[in-house]
Amino acid sequence: MDSDLSLLLQDAEAASEPFPSLRRRKGEHEEFATAVLAGLARPPRSIPCRFFYDAQGCGLFEEITRLPEYYPTRTETALLEAHANEIAALVGMGRVLIEFGSGSSRKTSLLISALRNLVAYVPIDVSAESLQEAAGWLSLRHFGLNTEPVVADFTKPVTLPEFARIRPKLGFFSGSTIGNFTHDEAGDFLRGAARLLGKGSRFLIGVDLKKPENILVPAYDDARGVTAAFNLNLLERINRELGGDFDLSRFAHEAIYNEEAGRVEIYLKSLTGQRVRVLGREFRFARGERIHTENSHKYAVDEFQALAADSGWTPVKAWTDPAQLFSLHLLHL
Ligand code: AVJ
Repeated sequence: MDSDLSLLLQDAEAASEPFPSLRRRKGEHEEFATAVLAGLARPPRSIPCRFFYDAQGCGLFEEITRLPEYYPTRTETALLEAHANEIAALVGMGRVLIEFGSGSSRKTSLLISALRNLVAYVPIDVSAESLQEAAGWLSLRHFGLNTEPVVADFTKPVTLPEFARIRPKLGFFSGSTIGNFTHDEAGDFLRGAARLLGKGSRFLIGVDLKKPENILVPAYDDARGVTAAFNLNLLERINRELGGDFDLSRFAHEAIYNEEAGRVEIYLKSLTGQRVRVLGREFRFARGERIHTENSHKYAVDEFQALAADSGWTPVKAWTDPAQLFSLHLLHL
């Protein structure tokens, strides 16, 4: 990062953070600044969706998971409940559970209860705060479970605690978070997970299914506007953390189904011609110009199994709900 940018960052930080002791790790703030400046400068404009999840964004996402239109969370939870015993039988005993991301304690708890004789639980997440919260809650509910959180970005090589390396493992990646990756990135992730989990391991992954647009679009553009608030919070976060001056009333949330690419895309669309300043730089928006903020890929069961097979995994079984909304895949290596 250039040095004038780092000075601007320090100013923005001092202005927006009254409690320096609660400051996030420096790296994250700089990554956010760099991604936003680069993403706003180039056409087509885009900002990576991982920046949605500051404290307010996490709260709004929780709210999304309870919306009537947003079927993934409750459907995946129901699938885990319905098939817990069969999953446990196929996974076998004495494994270390490695969870990618830690935002889903309720589902993880269901899985932990079903898998008797779990050796340990190792959640991996970039956010030490979410790990603390999730791991704390789960070790209260599953008293005596050896829990060893790892703070790391699981899209890069991860080092597991010593004891986990020699034991058979079960990976768990829920919520269709894998849908945020492009197909190539999802393949890379699955290959990385294969290296991390090792021969003989199992992997349980929640994947959102392809389905008609009239179900998909409302799930990402709900009547109460919670998803709109979640998307717009990214601009608020830029204002709060990077000294931006986005006028939120001049941007609108947009969700479309790109059938060709098999994904829902969400955008922030400029309602007027306008200029915005972020970290002392000016960006001009034409009326109707958009910032791409998320892709959420959808897979038919056989499409996801083919992707997994291409990445070294053997499909064991896939479960879907009666309405064909969501799938749970068990793979082995
Ligand atoms: C957390 C990535 C699975 O793609 O459905 C929900 C995020 N974005 N509504 C999804 C999200 C807008 C969600 N994932």
